[in-house]
Amino acid sequence: MIDVLVTGGAGFIGSNFVRHALAAHPDWRVTTLDKLTYAGRIETLSDVMDHPRHAFVRGDIADDVVATPLVQRSHIVVHFAAETHVDRSIASAGDFIRTDMIGTYVLLEAARNAPHLKRFVQISTDEVYGSVPEGASRETDEIKPRNPYSASKAGADRLAYSYFATYDVPVIVTRASNNYGPYQFPEKIIPLFVTNALDERPLPLYGDGLNVRDWLHVMDHCRAVDLLIERGVNGETYNIGGGNEIANIDLTHRILELTGRPSSLIQPVKDRPGHDRRYALDTSKARAHGWAPQVDFVDGLRETVEWYRANQAWWRPIKEQDAAFRAYYASQYGPARP
Ligand SMILES: NC(=O)c1ccc[n+]([C@@H]2O[C@H](COP(=O)([O-])OP(=O)(O)OC[C@H]3O[C@@H](n4cnc5c(N)ncnc54)[C@H](O)[C@@H]3O)[C@@H](O)[C@H]2O)c1
Repeated sequence: MIDVLVTGGAGFIGSNFVRHALAAHPDWRVTTLDKLTYAGRIETLSDVMDHPRHAFVRGDIADDVVATPLVQRSHIVVHFAAETHVDRSIASAGDFIRTDMIGTYVLLEAARNAPHLKRFVQISTDEVYGSVPEGASRETDEIKPRNPYSASKAGADRLAYSYFATYDVPVIVTRASNNYGPYQFPEKIIPLFVTNALDERPLPLYGDGLNVRDWLHVMDHCRAVDLLIERGVNGETYNIGGGNEIANIDLTHRILELTGRPSSLIQPVKDRPGHDRRYALDTSKARAHGWAPQVDFVDGLRETVEWYRANQAWWRPIKEQDAAFRAYYASQYGPARP
């Protein structure tokens, strides 16, 4: 059996990866290590909690007592755990430094002495390149992160590379574009706008709405990580993007169409400080290894809207009963309707 440690597996991408890994690899034994922060929910993994090849450990990646033995018995580490919301990093950066940088350091230190380790996947982000007014970022481009989230991810990204270069830890780094799909915490634009639209509540759109993101279906991301575990080259970095560039305002109109709501729900709000205007990725390196996105954005977005419509038991408790979420929402956009 191959022992696989997935950090952050109770979050959005990590939980989709755990499900994918268990289904695609009958010889993988998967351990999820997750602190269950506000963004991590055990309910997200409810269908695999009793799976015979899955174990869940609640713990902090920055706690070496918990994390080190888990890394040291693994053949593969896929490191998703992070604080991930740019707006929260602007309000308060401490947890981002602690988890994204120090937590990654703890895992990498453990990986130095892991006897069976064949692969350590550092899940990074296209945001490390900073705003890209034109063209598409290549892996060799300079990184210029511009907010505390992307800066702490960039620190972790390069720290992971340094453990390959210095200690020969079998690291690969992946930089994905914005993910969408089921189980995304309803603070990020797609699930926030879909769930607000379903409830006929305003959609708080930053600035002029012309910021552009490239959308990647979460399962296309999971398939890319899986393939690169197999075929990636240690020490290399791989961009993973969906090739679906769309301005936030156009994305908002599509969500309104899919939910059957009027454009009068759009509520322009003050722009995010330092809001990166555009991200775009050149993905030819990952494609040369045989990966290509499979989910068409029109279909993927429609299915995502349907998922949120059908799975209200997953997101309503967060939006309606979680006092911390409601306080965050009020501080960001004004009080939420009861
Ligand atoms: N969502 C995107 O669009 C996107 C795009 C590119 C890269 N990424 C990267 O992918 C990874 C996963 O992102 P996501 O959107 O699924 O995030 P998420 O916020 O949905 O989930 C993060 C998970 O990490 C856990 N976690 C946080 N701090 C922890 C700690 N100290 N110890 C253990 N667990 C901890 C949380 O409980 C949560 O389950 C992150 O590294 C993120 O930077 C995300």
